[in-house]
Amino acid sequence: MARNNAALKQRARSLLTKKDDSRQDIIRAYEPALTLTANVGRGQTVFRKNCSTCHQVEGKSGIAYGPDLGTIRNRRPESILGDILNPNFSIADGYDLWTFEMKSGETLQGLIATETPTALTIRYPGGQETVVARQDIKSLKSLGMSVMPTGLENTISKQEMADLLVFLKQVR
Ligand code: HEC
Repeated sequence: MARNNAALKQRARSLLTKKDDSRQDIIRAYEPALTLTANVGRGQTVFRKNCSTCHQVEGKSGIAYGPDLGTIRNRRPESILGDILNPNFSIADGYDLWTFEMKSGETLQGLIATETPTALTIRYPGGQETVVARQDIKSLKSLGMSVMPTGLENTISKQEMADLLVFLKQVR
């Protein structure tokens, strides 16, 4: 298990930072969302529909699977837009996706919510958790990708993105 423990300690944002040109094109296509006239109330609706299954804002209005988005209010809208359209570019520390091959033959995939010397807690989208004993794990591997889905542009128009960004900037 020594090697697996070392692998766990290596979880760090910098290791996972990746470049993806097709994503850059989509981000560029969504730049108008930074200047369109936007509406906070509509932005909240967009948030509820697309984001609240995984995110809370200051402890409210969603499931705390990914990081609380109350902390991003002071960031530049361009940078928030990049995070929404290219989740794999920079993965918040501790929120990368892991695959566990169990000695039983089962394969599990999720975030590592907590770890102790003898056990790990795996968290799935929606917030459910499973505790597994380290001795039951055959191998574990970071997939180097975010649990946040890529392709949110398919369900969010540019106007909706503009509304979402002002909502994220203004929530108190
Ligand atoms: C299936 C779950 C899921 C959904 C749906 C989802 N996210 Fe995420 N999101 C995550 C996870 C997990 C992370 C942390 C990993 C990462 O940084 O990519 C994250 C990270 C982020 C970050 C970066 C936060 C930081 O601290 O750096 C932002 C911003 C964000 N999400 C916004 C959104 C918005 C806005 C939506 C809706 C349009 C959304 N997410 C939908 C799971 C999700």
